[in-house]
Amino acid sequence: MATLGSAEARLGMPGLPDTATAVAAGVPEPGPMVPAPFTLVSKRQDTLDTWTLQLRPRTGEGLAFAPGQFTMLSAFGTGEVPISISGGGGWDAGDGPLVHTVRAVGLATQAICQAPIGSTLGVRGPFGQPWPVEQLTGADVLVVAGGIGLAPLRPAILALLARRERYGRLVLLYGGRDPDQLLYGDELCEWERRGLDVVVTVDSAGPEWLGHVGVVPRMVRRASFDPANAAALLCGPEVMMRFTVSALAGAGVGSDRVYASMERNMQCGIGHCGHCQLGPTLVCRDGPVYRWSELERWLAIREL
Ligand SMILES: Cc1cc2nc3c(=O)[nH]c(=O)nc-3n(C[C@H](O)[C@H](O)[C@H](O)COP(=O)(O)OP(=O)(O)OC[C@H]3O[C@@H](n4cnc5c(N)ncnc54)[C@H](O)[C@@H]3O)c2cc1C
Ligand code: FES
Repeated sequence: MATLGSAEARLGMPGLPDTATAVAAGVPEPGPMVPAPFTLVSKRQDTLDTWTLQLRPRTGEGLAFAPGQFTMLSAFGTGEVPISISGGGGWDAGDGPLVHTVRAVGLATQAICQAPIGSTLGVRGPFGQPWPVEQLTGADVLVVAGGIGLAPLRPAILALLARRERYGRLVLLYGGRDPDQLLYGDELCEWERRGLDVVVTVDSAGPEWLGHVGVVPRMVRRASFDPANAAALLCGPEVMMRFTVSALAGAGVGSDRVYASMERNMQCGIGHCGHCQLGPTLVCRDGPVYRWSELERWLAIREL
């Protein structure tokens, strides 16, 4: 597959100039800071404020990425934001489109979620370090997600299930604010059928909800796994991840076997601007996935 930095991603496109003409006309040359045009081919509303978008490159092949990586996604004229890749390519059906699940919280994410089908969005990437899925062979794996945090974990879940026989127990602990905020409802059942123990909990619910009520870290004790041979992948609000790490430590899973995806404000996405600094690291380059034992001392430092 081509990567988005490749010239093919932007050349020979109907309506766009070739390189020589483009350079002469002052159009930026291809590179990691130049967004590639992707067409929005479908969108699904998951919750009141969250949409799952499917994108295909206007030209060239799909995007090669590893679970846990992100792109810088833009709706032209409204800004560019880091969004995790939640599907696409080999982990979904065949040559699947690039999938992003986006929560509309501000100007850029609202414009991205409101973009009509057929419109063009800008994509740079993929960037960042992935989940260490390949290194977990033989282990019990706990996937712990809060809210939109399930989106960056979805490709990891699909990769684990694609080679189900390589792993021990696979458990998903997933929490949302209320039942209406839960993502990927149909897929949760499908994943369970394929060998993932799914435990869903909500912070609050009406009497019609028959599932768990309570915060995600409390579900750790309900999960069935061998602590001596377990690893965990975490994504969600930082406070949720901190309490989950404590619960895992209480169950015997050390922080050197816990991996977390971190969010920081980003601009360049490629380690140049320093906006995403976390301790001595840059989240866009050294993260967003970190081993928690390396992360905890930097999280203890108060940001100015
Ligand atoms: C590596 C990475 C992966 C991400 N993956 C996803 C994803 O898959 N889906 C998704 O919906 N969002 C994801 N985010 C968060 C997303 O980038 C922010 O919601 C977005 O930047 C907000 O931009 P805006 O212009 O819409 O809102 P703004 O107007 O910039 O902000 C609106 C509100 O969101 C808060 N906010 C802004 N940036 C962030 C941030 N980086 N993290 C947390 N809160 C923020 C602001 O404090 C403010 O309260 C990810 C962030 C990172 C760093
Ligand atoms: S976003 Fe610029 S250095 Fe990370």
